Amino acid sequence: MLKSISISVLTLAATPALAETGDIADRPGEEIIVSASRSGEGVEADKLGGTCLHRGCVPTKALLHTAEVADVAHAASTAGVSVGEVVVDGSAARAFRDKIVAGKHKGLQGLIAGHGITVVAGYGVLGPDRVVTVGDDTYAASHVVIATGSHTRLLPGIEPGPRVWTSETALSSDVVPARAIVLGGGVIGVEFASAWRSLGAEVTIVEALDHLVAAEDASSVAQLERAFRRRGIQTRLGVRVATVAETADAASVTLEDGTVLEGDVVLVAVGRAPHTADLGLEQAGVALERGFVVVDDQLRTTVPGVWAAGDVVAGLQLAHRGFQHGLAVAERIHGRTVPQIPDASIPRVIYTHPEVASVGLTEERAKETWGAEAIATVEYNLAGNAKSTILGTSGVAKVVRRVNGPVVGVHLVGDRVGELITEAQLVVGWEAHPEDIAPFVHAHPTQGEALGEAFLALAGSPLHVA
Ligand code: NAI
Repeated sequence: MLKSISISVLTLAATPALAETGDIADRPGEEIIVSASRSGEGVEADKLGGTCLHRGCVPTKALLHTAEVADVAHAASTAGVSVGEVVVDGSAARAFRDKIVAGKHKGLQGLIAGHGITVVAGYGVLGPDRVVTVGDDTYAASHVVIATGSHTRLLPGIEPGPRVWTSETALSSDVVPARAIVLGGGVIGVEFASAWRSLGAEVTIVEALDHLVAAEDASSVAQLERAFRRRGIQTRLGVRVATVAETADAASVTLEDGTVLEGDVVLVAVGRAPHTADLGLEQAGVALERGFVVVDDQLRTTVPGVWAAGDVVAGLQLAHRGFQHGLAVAERIHGRTVPQIPDASIPRVIYTHPEVASVGLTEERAKETWGAEAIATVEYNLAGNAKSTILGTSGVAKVVRRVNGPVVGVHLVGDRVGELITEAQLVVGWEAHPEDIAPFVHAHPTQGEALGEAFLALAGSPLHVA
């Protein structure tokens, strides 16, 4: 049956951005979301909320919370609490994740329905003139938003299997591997390595570059690598994976230098690729570059009335960036002027033990941009911060400023420092000078005081430093 419906905005999506893009309060009933994803060999309709809610941020952070609880339980006696033997129950941990995801999914469905947005389940393909085909039905729209997200990138010759996992397999499994080999020391790799180590696994990370999370500031990288070494997480840095093999009992990885590593499970975490194939984009005139949708500074594609948001746009692959893109596109469709937030101003948090959080430029990038002599930095060690000592965490708060100018980067390492990024993001976003913010009082004892100390030091009035 051929069904043709004319609508105002049609979002081709499986990401959190869709909720925002569809939420256009003054034109209810005219927005349609086509929620779909293509996985493996088949075509399947997916669920509202996309990767972040079902296979990414939310269940991963739930797994990392399970890991944190295990860490706290192991260290309980240091705070005067005896908990007996710590036992990790993989199926109960999975049920914990699933329950959180199910609850948020229900809430999201309610929000979408409450705004009168129609959701079409199926796989949408874009044609000319902003017509989207879903099975036998066609939908013509004034505006189409491509928000189809990204999927796990696999290495040539390495296929997922019972012991060769992607992050999705790991999250949907009851099993906490006893020996895990993690391919890729980027964000996904270090988060799983951290969680599994806390839950008792022997973990080895293989990373082609010379460092873990290499996009972060060098001081944060050094802190995380040191913390991982102390936790017994093995790393093989500066070497690529050659082959992966699995048998009924084990999986093995051969590195390009000939080393063979053995484990129960191999996690492939070597990046995520934009989901832009098989959507009819190029045939419809939407230009792609290395698989990403080409957009201008307003997120307009090369086809008038077709927009893009989230991981399909080259740059940081973060849920909150997709969310912000979705909001901006929705506003622009309604003729409002919305500035695009530069990727550097988007906060980044890696939820490892210890956490790594950052916003703005690294010291290296700032020096490349303005010259080494125009940049000043301060590193405040969390050893001087009472709350961090109580929590038993070590780390650093590093602030990068332009000499006689604003703060351009904040880099934090330590348990729970992800929550501090909110203050740091305001400072960087508002281009505040350390002299302006140093007088503000931080509650004592909080980890936020470490940021205050760093601002004071950069303003020339260091307080609690020798
Ligand atoms: P990534 O790009 O962060 O890291 C992939 C790593 O794999 C890189 O360091 C790369 O050098 C390495 N690699 C590539 N080929 C290799 C090979 N053949 N052998 C050894 N190493 C190799 O990608 P990742 O970790 O898969 O994450 C995907 C995206 O998801 C990222 O953009 C990340 O920002 C996002 N994400 C964000 C989270 C957060 O904000 N907390 C959590 C999880 C993912």
